[in-house]
Amino acid sequence: MSDKATFTLDGKNYEYPVITGTENEKAVDISKLRAQSGFVTFDEGYKNTGCTVSNITFLDGEKGILRYRGYGIEDLAEKATFTEVSYLLLYGELPTAKQLKDFEDNLTQHTLVHENLMKVFEVFPSGSHPMGQLMTLISGLSSFYPDSLNPNKSPEQVNLTIIRLLAKMPTICAMIQKKGKGHPLVYPQNKHDYVTNFLRMTFGNVTDDYAPDPVVIDAMNKLLILHADHEQNCSTATVRIVGSSHANLYASIGAGVAALWGPRHGGANQEVLEMLEHIQTIDKGDVKKVVAEAKDKKRLLFGFGHRVYKNFDPRATIIKKSCDNVLAKLGVNDPLLDIAKQLEEVALTDPYFIERKLYPNVDFYSGIIYKALGFPTPMFTVLFALGRLPGWISQWKEMREKNEDIGRPRQIYNGPGLRPFVGITDRK
Ligand code: CMC
Repeated sequence: MSDKATFTLDGKNYEYPVITGTENEKAVDISKLRAQSGFVTFDEGYKNTGCTVSNITFLDGEKGILRYRGYGIEDLAEKATFTEVSYLLLYGELPTAKQLKDFEDNLTQHTLVHENLMKVFEVFPSGSHPMGQLMTLISGLSSFYPDSLNPNKSPEQVNLTIIRLLAKMPTICAMIQKKGKGHPLVYPQNKHDYVTNFLRMTFGNVTDDYAPDPVVIDAMNKLLILHADHEQNCSTATVRIVGSSHANLYASIGAGVAALWGPRHGGANQEVLEMLEHIQTIDKGDVKKVVAEAKDKKRLLFGFGHRVYKNFDPRATIIKKSCDNVLAKLGVNDPLLDIAKQLEEVALTDPYFIERKLYPNVDFYSGIIYKALGFPTPMFTVLFALGRLPGWISQWKEMREKNEDIGRPRQIYNGPGLRPFVGITDRK
């Protein structure tokens, strides 16, 4: 295989290097194309565009492979904790026992948020969406840490900001759920690990001792690990592009939360549950009718299809198993699960779905587990953000350490040519 690609444009030949990744992925490096030929490439939705060379996550959508720093997602979900995986993503290697202890101790020292940050809740109308609140609170952290505004400061300062953000995120997510219910906040306690603390702050109460069920802790760890990174998806690409302007970490991650909110991305987990409830109540459980409408493009089946997985979503396979376990162990008998199973059956057998390679994705099952664990539906995408945070930060950190160029795509202009200005009284 040649390590050069040749383009012929307007009768002239141009040669560009071919980059090969460690898993034999190939890309044509066209970074000099416009300067040399005047042409740009056109790729709406960036379906064929590599925007960076990254060492963090490998994904093969055809084979259903997902690995963080070379470790298979199946192994990590089974054998590691979320903080271990966060360390791996951030620093490149699995931590030793000492490194993990130091990392976790460090995180527990930064879990509190400034009391004034909580005043923000006074201005949110009741029922305001948790993702909007999360964006505001994460961006708001920058106001309390002016030393974090310049991401070009010392690596120690950057690392402190990273630790602060990772440590405060579970507190902020739990605060959103508590405030939504009008309940008093439960503060973090340093003796608990990251996930236990989060569950305590979310489901515990100031009036009672609360210890989460080990089944719940295990499921939560798995869910967070499975969401922790996914290479250049919409929100991660957003974090990188915002960070490429040298915006601070809080601003960059706030932008990632905004991108994740959309129903075609992380917001799909909320949509899946609402769709299942709609099928149960409004469509009276008539899955066939729903599928027929999806095939007629009258509705989208949330939780199906993926931009890169065209075989199966390995995260969905693990979550499905975990979902069955959690529901059995917690004794939950959810009729929505029957509807989900019928939909899944159709997707795996109907030619429309087979031809388009539309398989259930991670969001299809996660919502059912979140519901069984007791989270309100509007919180689902917040949980996705909690899991994705170490991935966003690792990608931001990698981009900053390589001092990548500012992200600035080109376009093909297709509007009117130059027109003389028309005064307001002469306009028709
Ligand atoms: N239900 C019905 N038809 C669909 C669906 C769906 N969920 N997804 C895609 N199609 C059809 C689409 O209409 C098109 O049909 P045709 O070839 O006849 O025009 C074909 O499948 C290809 O679709 P596409 O929109 O070109 O695929 P894409 O790769 O651009 O979009 C997607 C991927 C995830 C945005 C899309 O499948 C979708 O909107 N799914 C529902 C939302 C969802 O579950 N999102 C969560 C993704 S997983 C979590 C994450 O990583 O963000």
